[in-house]
Amino acid sequence: MKAYRVNGGRPLEGTVAIHGAKNSVLPILAACICCAGICEIDNCPRIADVDTAIAILEHLGCRVVRQDHRLTVDAATVDRCDIPGDLMGGMRSSILFLGALLTRCGRAELSLPGGCALGRRPIDLHLWAAEELGACWEGCSPSLRCTCRSMAGCCLPLRCPSVGATENAMLMALGCRGVTTIENAAREPEITDLARFLTAMGAKVVGAGTGTITVEGGRPLHGACHKVMADRIEAATYLCAAAGCGGLVELVGAVPDALTPVTELLERSGCILQPTERGLLLQSDGRLHTPGPVVTRPHPGFPTDAQAPMMAALLRAVGITEFTETIFENRLRHVEQLRLLGADIRQYGSRALVRGVAHLHGGILEATDLRCGAALLIGALQAEGDSTVLGVHHIRRGYDNIVETLSAVGARIWETDYTG
Ligand code: UD1
Repeated sequence: MKAYRVNGGRPLEGTVAIHGAKNSVLPILAACICCAGICEIDNCPRIADVDTAIAILEHLGCRVVRQDHRLTVDAATVDRCDIPGDLMGGMRSSILFLGALLTRCGRAELSLPGGCALGRRPIDLHLWAAEELGACWEGCSPSLRCTCRSMAGCCLPLRCPSVGATENAMLMALGCRGVTTIENAAREPEITDLARFLTAMGAKVVGAGTGTITVEGGRPLHGACHKVMADRIEAATYLCAAAGCGGLVELVGAVPDALTPVTELLERSGCILQPTERGLLLQSDGRLHTPGPVVTRPHPGFPTDAQAPMMAALLRAVGITEFTETIFENRLRHVEQLRLLGADIRQYGSRALVRGVAHLHGGILEATDLRCGAALLIGALQAEGDSTVLGVHHIRRGYDNIVETLSAVGARIWETDYTG
């Protein structure tokens, strides 16, 4: 079994190049099939979820060529509208092919998506949006067949600002007659990046980044080139690592504005952050104090994806830090694992109280989801002695070259075979 071995207790110093955003490239790759042309996607991270997206595109009949961090997707040859269960189950974003397939083929045969185990992750809003726009779906869990004779734009007031449902509604709206208005839309920067790509394909999308997005459907779409935005969660992860370990790290390509909720907390914890010509610089003496409560919220609030890394950064911070997870019902699974490093954390449902300890020690830990995995590495990098982090497949789903990246800033981390 593959594992990461970490010998912790060293500051991090140097430069980290931030890759393209996982949560941006996945909807963009699904969107490629909305046109029958060739799309070129630059700054595409080399992560397992992108491999899954490529496998889905190829299954649907696309020709995909990968050259380092550039993907060329030729969707002219799409010849099927079903996605097998093993590909659907590989990641949550596979559900975005629902909207893309309805627009391209007028039907989609799918099953329930996979993704990180964070508690219940229903897709009712995605299916509701499809129905409101004129699609019918049949079948019961886990298989699902969605068909539409003709779809017509309408107003879609979302019950909550779901990122995936907003993106799916945008993709479905491309194939509708007339205008679709998505209300209470998610405002995450990745939605704006998707809108930029759709616009380059010939779509008319207005309001991305605000709570109301309108899409004018039925316009002819063509192939387009796009550079994926920088991954703000990857950047947040490396900021948290450097904050907790101490050191001086410049994140090249990071966009400071997209990171404000994270950088504000790190500044309040005692770090110095400074935008640079190339990105963002963090300086930390590794002696943090509590920044006050951390509450996850939809954008522009504190991102749920950065909650686990931030908790790991503050394990040794003086004082008590209260974390409240409001987006997902079970997203504190890292707590139990971080305790194995000697962390003092009490959990009350979706709340966790972290009392900073003077020292962490090494341990054998297991990642249960992607951001949990990131948090365990950040904890292990601060711990004295050796740690082993299992469950590396979760980490590979969302981090491009994490071992090399951390090694380049002085971390002692290796991939090994764990035999127990
Ligand atoms: C996306 C991100 C994920 C991030 C999350 C919240 C991608 C690939 N993933 O996930 O990294 O943690 O946004 O920022 O972009 N909900 C429903 N019904 C639905 C859909 C969602 O009740 O049909 C609920 C969810 O259970 C959750 C909340 O809405 O409680 C937010 O989920 P959502 O924004 O949809 O997250 P994802 O798009 O799955």
